[in-house]
Amino acid sequence: MNLKEEILKLKNELDVTLVAHFYQRDEVFELADITGDSLELAKKVMNTNTKFVVFCGVGFMGESVKIMSPQKRVLMPRIACCAMARMIDEGYFEQNLKIINEAGIKNEDILPITYINSSARVKARVGMMGGMVCTSSNAYKIIEKGLKSGKKIFFVPDRCLGQNFAKSLNLKSAVVGDGTNLNEADIICYNGFCSVHQQFNVDDIDFYREKYPDILVAVHPECDPKVCDKADFVGSTSQLITYIKNLPVDQKVVVGTEFNMVNRLREKNTYILSSTKPECPTMNETTLEHVYNTLKSIKDDNISKECEIFVDEDTAKWAKIALERMFEV
Ligand code: 13P
Ligand code: SF4
Repeated sequence: MNLKEEILKLKNELDVTLVAHFYQRDEVFELADITGDSLELAKKVMNTNTKFVVFCGVGFMGESVKIMSPQKRVLMPRIACCAMARMIDEGYFEQNLKIINEAGIKNEDILPITYINSSARVKARVGMMGGMVCTSSNAYKIIEKGLKSGKKIFFVPDRCLGQNFAKSLNLKSAVVGDGTNLNEADIICYNGFCSVHQQFNVDDIDFYREKYPDILVAVHPECDPKVCDKADFVGSTSQLITYIKNLPVDQKVVVGTEFNMVNRLREKNTYILSSTKPECPTMNETTLEHVYNTLKSIKDDNISKECEIFVDEDTAKWAKIALERMFEV
């Protein structure tokens, strides 16, 4: 039997749901019971009733599942940490708050919002301050809700997402530590970014437009604002999928997001906005062999602690509050 068949056999025998994010390798993605973007996965997994969840994605996604469904045992074949989520911890969060306070803005005048790409501890800190989580699919709604509080938004960790949503809402943004005026900003951004989406640039848009004058440009909001400004469509992973799948077959489109996902979207007329292969290295860490080993360890009752997600009670309590505020919206 090959590895794929072994995995399917184990999956049938065990009380397990196999979950994969859209950025996973094709061979892993194909075997999953549930696929989706980060928001869809968080919601769909909450409604499953298996004891085990084997989650193929990056660390913060598995943590979110564990926080929302603590009764489940959440295993990740590779606990790979998203490069952006790794750019912020509670220490950096506090340091940034201090800089904001030094600019004369008090904590009671700030509402923190964290992109779901952050650790449970950062989510918990945000929850304690009355803030909430967002994903790229719902950031618009969450930021709009946050602004109703009359406070300035402190948006962590992705500065591009913060700046792009500020622009689309006709608001002013600033980035902590880059010399921009924090007092004038409605949205104050932490200076984090996605190393994959930073690879897309305006020169590549110009190149494709020159080569194919009718081509459409679709990008993820983790791209630099200069790239988003020049695009025809800016949307989250699922929004990009819907947009591209609904295009007429002969319409060319060039896409600025992770390679694995773009590659499986459409047979023809779909290009990647880069001369390199922009795969997310952490998403790509999970292989069929890792998935097999994790399922086998469930069968043999020999689960490695390194594969299992644990979140301490206090962190989980506050992070859950921040996540639930998102689900309410
Ligand atoms: P989605 O929320 O669109 O799934 O994105 C997660 C992510 O890591 C994008 O780089
Ligand atoms: Fe993180 Fe970027 Fe990979 Fe998404 S693509 S998981 S933001 S490093």
